[in-house]
Amino acid sequence: MDKKRIFSGIKPTGDLTLGSYLGAIKNWVGFQDEYECLYCIVNEHAITIRNDPEVLRRRSREQLAQYIAAGLDPKRSIIYLQSHVSQHAELGWILGCYTMMGELNRMTQFKDMSKKHPDNLNAGIYTYPVLMAADILLFDSQLVPVGEDQKQHVELARNIAQRFNGVYGDTFVVPEPFVPKVGARIKSLTNPEAKMSKSDDDPQGSVYILDEPDAILKKFKRAKTDSLGVVHYDPTEQAGISNLMTIYSAVTGKNFDEIEKEFEGKGYGVFKPAVAEAVIDTLRPIREGAEKLIAEGELEKIYRDGAERASAIAEKVLDRVHDVIGFVKR
Ligand code: TRP
Repeated sequence: MDKKRIFSGIKPTGDLTLGSYLGAIKNWVGFQDEYECLYCIVNEHAITIRNDPEVLRRRSREQLAQYIAAGLDPKRSIIYLQSHVSQHAELGWILGCYTMMGELNRMTQFKDMSKKHPDNLNAGIYTYPVLMAADILLFDSQLVPVGEDQKQHVELARNIAQRFNGVYGDTFVVPEPFVPKVGARIKSLTNPEAKMSKSDDDPQGSVYILDEPDAILKKFKRAKTDSLGVVHYDPTEQAGISNLMTIYSAVTGKNFDEIEKEFEGKGYGVFKPAVAEAVIDTLRPIREGAEKLIAEGELEKIYRDGAERASAIAEKVLDRVHDVIGFVKR
């Protein structure tokens, strides 16, 4: 039987964090054995907010380098930049004509963004989920690994696919959100109520994959904890410590009981640097590998090859769509 196809992507709107790695990329690496995977750097999604062009370019390249250094394999998987495959935007336009404004009005991320960026409420922020649906449907993707916050967008992609199929007959594969059972949800170190985010205004809250070891140690030492002084898992009463335990567990493979025993009778002054060291050990090979890829100029070959393979699939799907809609064949 053919392998199922997976599509996922991350926007290069901030530097990748430990949360991006433990919550997404690490899982993606594992999927490569079992699935046919496309992993995209969705730079067209990034421009709904204003970016410094040079920063966007640097981040996109660094993101690719980190994908690969973390274990995404450009031979087994298709790894590329969204803007290199023009069919994303082409299908995006078409799908917009099969998406209802009422559906877009209901997107919770849009509602949040409208509050956060009232000064730049551009149409791209509004139609963003349509482009995301195009990303997914363009490759007949069956599974879409995403975090909780993106599930609603994958549901929309399903609805669009089903509506389209209802009009024209089976054209699109109807995708499913794939929220992996494992996959740690990492919170900010300074505000353990909120997700660790690459676009956080407070860089102390996030550990970046490319952070140097001493910066990582400093961030963990300053991480918000509590006055109870016991390493105990309790996300409501000890949100900060529980977050550090989640991180420690994800990078060492130890479970919460084992961690509680390991640090019994020891204060946060022992626990925090231990977490930092374990994180430093996990991230070091990724940072070094990414730096090497960038220095050796390996990236161009990789993303060009990825775009070529992605385009070959996308072209077929787009032709199929053009055909059923009634566009004259090229
Ligand atoms: N919207 C996603 C996010 O903000 C990123 C994304 C864009 C994506 N296109 C995608 C994720 C397609 C999965 C599949 O995180």
